[in-house]
Amino acid sequence: MKTIVITGGAGFIGSHVVRLFVHKYPNYRIICLDKLTYAGNLSNLKDLEGLPNYMFVKMDICDFEAFHALMQEHKVDGIIHLAAESHVDRSIKDPFTFARTNVMGTLSLLQAAKLYWESLPEKYEGKRFYHISTDEVYGALALDTSSEKAPYGRDFFTETTPYNPHSPYSASKASSDHFVRAFHDTYGMPTIVTNCSNNYGPYQFPEKLIPLFINNIRHRKPLPVYGKGENVRDWLYVEDHARAIDVIFHKGAVAETYNIGGFNEWKNIDIIKVVIRTVDRLLGRPDGADLDLITYVTDRAGHDLRYAIDSSKLKEELGWEPSLQFEEGIEKTVRWYLDNEEWMNNITSGDYQKYYDEMYREIN
Ligand code: NAD
Ligand code: DAU
Repeated sequence: MKTIVITGGAGFIGSHVVRLFVHKYPNYRIICLDKLTYAGNLSNLKDLEGLPNYMFVKMDICDFEAFHALMQEHKVDGIIHLAAESHVDRSIKDPFTFARTNVMGTLSLLQAAKLYWESLPEKYEGKRFYHISTDEVYGALALDTSSEKAPYGRDFFTETTPYNPHSPYSASKASSDHFVRAFHDTYGMPTIVTNCSNNYGPYQFPEKLIPLFINNIRHRKPLPVYGKGENVRDWLYVEDHARAIDVIFHKGAVAETYNIGGFNEWKNIDIIKVVIRTVDRLLGRPDGADLDLITYVTDRAGHDLRYAIDSSKLKEELGWEPSLQFEEGIEKTVRWYLDNEEWMNNITSGDYQKYYDEMYREIN
C-alpha cells in the first residue's frame, strides 16, 4: 500500500485531488493534511468521511517536528503539496503570512521528508515530492488589445520562461518552487513542480473572482471589476487540474516541470458577462438583468495584465488534455454554487463579511 499525504486537501483544488485519489486508488492510504485556515473547510470533503483509505490530519505545514513524526508513523511514500496562502489581494495586505506558509512551510516539509526518507534503507527509491505551483511565477505577458478574440497575444508561458513574479503571493510561490528544485539538485530528492493557470469550479472560496461574483449576482450586490476589466486570465476547470496532477504524480519524470492549462484565455469583463448571463438564466431572471451590477473600482496594485499557459509539453509527453469545454465547465460551476447555497452561506457568514466589507471599502 502506498501512503500519500496531500497538503491543503481541505481547500479548493486540494479537495478535488483528495476525492479523485481516494476513489481511484482504494489501495492507497490518503492522508489529507490541512491547518484549516479561513480557506480550509472540512465540509468540502464530507462525502469521504468514514472511507477506509481516507484520513484527515489537522496540522500546520510549518510544524517540522509534527510533520516528521507523521511521516515516520505512517511511512509516507509520496507528498502532493498544495497547502498555501493563495489569494493575491490578501498577499498585498499581509505578505508575511505568505512568506511564512508558502516559503517556510514548503521548506519545512522538504526538510522533514529528507530526514525521514534518507533514514530508510531504500532512501528515495519509490518516493516523490510533488509541488503544486502557479503560472503567476512567470510574471505577466503583453496584451494585444487589437484582437477581439483569444489568444490575446502571441506569446505564452512555457516551462523555460524565466521567473519574474510581481505580487507577494507569486514571489512566495516562486521561492518555494526554487526550494523544491534545490532539494532535487542538492540531495537527490525525487521532486516534480507544476505551474497551473487559473482554476474554476465547485468549492472555491468566494474571495476569488468567479465564486465571489456568482454569490454577489445571486444577492444583487455590486461586482467590483478591477481597473477596466481588460486583464486576461487562462481558465481551467478544477477537475481537469486534478486529473493532470494524478497523471503527473504517477507518470511525470523526476526533476521535471510541467505547465498545466487549457488554452482558454478570457478578458475579465467578458468572463464576468458570461457568469452574469448564466446566473440570470439559471435563476430565471431576464437575460442580462444583472449586467448593471458591474462596478469598475480601483485596480489591484501591480495587477498582472495577461497570463496564458502553453501546456503542450504535458499533452505531448503524458497525453493529458482538458476534458471540458469552457461553456460546459462554467454551466456546471454556476449550477453547483446555486445548488449549494448552504455551503456558501456557512462560509459567507461571520468573519467573511468583515473581510469583504473591508476589502470593498479599500478598493473603492
Ligand atoms: P485554497 O486557498 O483554496 O486552499 C489552500 C488550503 O491550504 C486551505 O485548505 C488551507 O487551510 C490550507 N493551508 C493554508 N496554510 C496552511 C498551513 N500553514 N498548513 C496547512 N495547511 C494550510 O487554495 P487553492 O486555490 O486550492 O490552491 C491550492 C494550491 O494550488 C496552492 O498552492 C496554489 O498556489 C496553487 N494554485 C492555485 C490555482 C488557482 O487558480 N486556485 C492555480 C494554480 C496553482
Ligand atoms: O493564475 C493562477 C492563480 O489564479 C493562482 O495561483 C491563484 O492562487 C488564484 O487566486 C488565481 O489568481 P488571480 O489573481 O488571477 O485570481 P482572482 O480570482 O483573484 O482574480 C482573477 C482576475 O479577476 C484578476 O485579474 C483580478 C480580477 N478581479 C478579481 C476579484 C477578486 C476583479 O476584477 N475583481 C475581483 O473582485
